[in-house]
Amino acid sequence: MARHDYKFRPEPRWESGFFVPPAPIPMPKPLDDWSKLDTFDSIRAMSKNPILSTTKASTTENDVIGKSIGQTIAIFTSPKSIKHVFIENAVNYGMHPIRQSLLKPALKDGLISADGDIWRVARRALSPIFTPRHIGEFPEPMRRATESMLPDVFPDGQIIEADEGFLKLAYAVLSETLFSGEIDGNLNDTLRDIAVFMDALGKPDPLDIIDAPKWIPRLSKMGWRKAVNRMRAQIRVVYNSRRQRIERNEDVPQDFLTLLLTTKTSDGDPLSADQVEDQIMTFIGAGHETTSRALTWLSYLLSQDVKTRDRFETEIDALDMAQPTKSWIEQMPFAMACFNEGMRLYPPAPFISRIALDEDKIDEKIIPKGATALINLWSLHRHESHWENPNAFDPDRFMRERAKEIGRFSFLPFGVGHRVCIGQRFALQEAAVIMAVIFKKVRLNWIEGEAHPWPLMRITTRPQETLRMQVEHR
Ligand code: HEM
Repeated sequence: MARHDYKFRPEPRWESGFFVPPAPIPMPKPLDDWSKLDTFDSIRAMSKNPILSTTKASTTENDVIGKSIGQTIAIFTSPKSIKHVFIENAVNYGMHPIRQSLLKPALKDGLISADGDIWRVARRALSPIFTPRHIGEFPEPMRRATESMLPDVFPDGQIIEADEGFLKLAYAVLSETLFSGEIDGNLNDTLRDIAVFMDALGKPDPLDIIDAPKWIPRLSKMGWRKAVNRMRAQIRVVYNSRRQRIERNEDVPQDFLTLLLTTKTSDGDPLSADQVEDQIMTFIGAGHETTSRALTWLSYLLSQDVKTRDRFETEIDALDMAQPTKSWIEQMPFAMACFNEGMRLYPPAPFISRIALDEDKIDEKIIPKGATALINLWSLHRHESHWENPNAFDPDRFMRERAKEIGRFSFLPFGVGHRVCIGQRFALQEAAVIMAVIFKKVRLNWIEGEAHPWPLMRITTRPQETLRMQVEHR
């Protein structure tokens, strides 16, 4: 069989009136034994850019169970199997060792990398923080942070790196809601540290993929510790100062830090300093890049599909900003549909992986103990049986009657089951506020002659090369 050129970059195109952005051509793997074709390519693709290892079958078939380098990989695409693995029999599926080897060293026992009882205690303690009542307090600081960053991040007439701009903006918003911006240190230095830490962690080492012994050094994993230690040290300073202020009964901002410091586990104990630190690192790791990547891809899509952009801008222009900030999201259904459609095509966190702790059976399909159980959102969100014209940018599929046709397990940007994203409501509010404030004022134009962005997965889906765009103040 001819070798598949997984690095081939198709050009974007227009099809039946819809914009179809560039995307890798899925690998044509045989259904059962993948090692026949391209084990080496798969490992390389998986390590370089896991999106490139997406198989054609995972966008057309009902679940795909294949073997590669002696390991079974089950890619679930049918609602029945997703429900079974992630909800009904979720106890049989633990956090995947590759995922854990990426996240655990830096995030330790943060919610996303904790497992077993440590996770259960933390999830119960943190859930009250993410209720609508608390999240409803955040849109106003989100708005303040966005407004103050706008002139610096989107200067009129300038060519900017849109991906960097949205990272800066999303961090400013997160920092305002996490610790009311009271963190010491220069924003650019902190962003550089976060970038080092996300970059190193986001890339599975080939030795982890083939499950090599842990004592063999992972060369790709060196160099991030200093960045993480600096971030943790900054968090510790702001934590100590806030704790002392709370003990002295001083007025303190009602941000995530105060909520974490005043929350209790089910035993009535407060979270320890280490626990608070791990959770803040986790909120930064899980909440910063995800939202900013989604906004970056949306800006690209709108810069291509200007008719949709006109409609998007008309809705934002009509938004009454004198209304309470938390109510804006209700007034921008089309913008939110565009945001969702962007996350469908470019899921910010595209791989949801688990490992089967024991053998399992779904109908006649055997999932052996030790199998990797995967939802590849990249392929689920482009699956031919879940979506009409799956590769096209068509925000109307998230509007009104058409939205009701979307299957419960077809669109899962925030995951599914008991480990579903705890920050989902926060992220949607944040996206709404940022879109309203920025796009009321700013248009990001495509620069003729620029290469179209190529999706690269490093925990999140980012443009492989920086995405340059021209700012126009409207
Ligand atoms: C567009 C934005 C976001 C997307 C697409 C996203 C996506 C996801 C996904 C897919 C998971 C499940 C991972 C798995 O099952 O293995 C997850 C978990 C998580 N997310 Fe998000 N996320 C976003 C924003 C946020 C924000 C803003 C925060 C925090 C402020 C956050 C905090 C978390 C945490 C703590 C978990 C782990 C939950 C647990 O295991 O109990 N996320 N996210």
